[in-house]
Amino acid sequence: MKIIQNPIELKEILRKEKKSIGFVPTMGALHKGHLSLIKRAVSENDITVVSIFVNPTQFLPGEDFEKYPRKIEADKRLCEIAGVDYLFAPTSDDIYQDDEVLIKAPKIKGYILEGFNRPGHFDGVLQIVNKLLNIVKPTRAYFGKKDAQQLYLIEKMVKNFYLDVQIVPCDIVREDDGLAMSSRNVYLSPKDRQKALLISKSLKRASKLIMDGKRDVKELKDEMKKVLKDLDVEYIEIVDRDFNKIDKIEKNNSIILVAAKVGGTRLIDNIWV
Ligand code: PAF
Repeated sequence: MKIIQNPIELKEILRKEKKSIGFVPTMGALHKGHLSLIKRAVSENDITVVSIFVNPTQFLPGEDFEKYPRKIEADKRLCEIAGVDYLFAPTSDDIYQDDEVLIKAPKIKGYILEGFNRPGHFDGVLQIVNKLLNIVKPTRAYFGKKDAQQLYLIEKMVKNFYLDVQIVPCDIVREDDGLAMSSRNVYLSPKDRQKALLISKSLKRASKLIMDGKRDVKELKDEMKKVLKDLDVEYIEIVDRDFNKIDKIEKNNSIILVAAKVGGTRLIDNIWV
């Protein structure tokens, strides 16, 4: 596995590789969720590139940019074992210049839910993902469904900017007890980790009700609220796969999303129904 810090160097090396390229962008502190994306990329492409970059522009002032877990040595070993060919690990100075051309997330879909609670977050995500896609020029890029709105907006950017890449959505990976894998789970105390299980439980409750034939969104949200009553909930929302609000569940076209704070840690989770 080659480790490369300089974007131009990586770009030049990859241009010479006349093969399919799978790309997994990450902010590091790799867990089983990332590894499932990496494994899929390795199995579906000739070459796999993983990036590790804690992107400052997607964190709001006061968020956890400084304390975001950084485990570069462990990450390198995991990537090597998983069969990654190139690990791209730039610094901010390698990636960002002064007074850049900026990308704005769409005014509506970029400023609801996550975008409402973290205004400007998706501008930063799209800025970095656009750069990464242009550096790597992958055949396929792999993103987790856990960041459902991020995935939606990246697909939209690819479409709006006519980018030549296939975005591959990947299923959420959970701990045995249901907690969705996240690099931020390390912030949770044992007590908070137990409380955090209410999030996946609320989603399971909604999914059970849907299996029992319930379709009314208000009714489902009310039931979820009951499960989540001890958490500091930011939103419980049910949207279609284009992130439009809906009144009734549309089978195979709906996403149920939750964001809540447990202790000081903000967690998100969702299910696609
Ligand atoms: O999902 C993430 O880890 C990040 O938002 C991403 C896509 C790597 C951009 O920094």
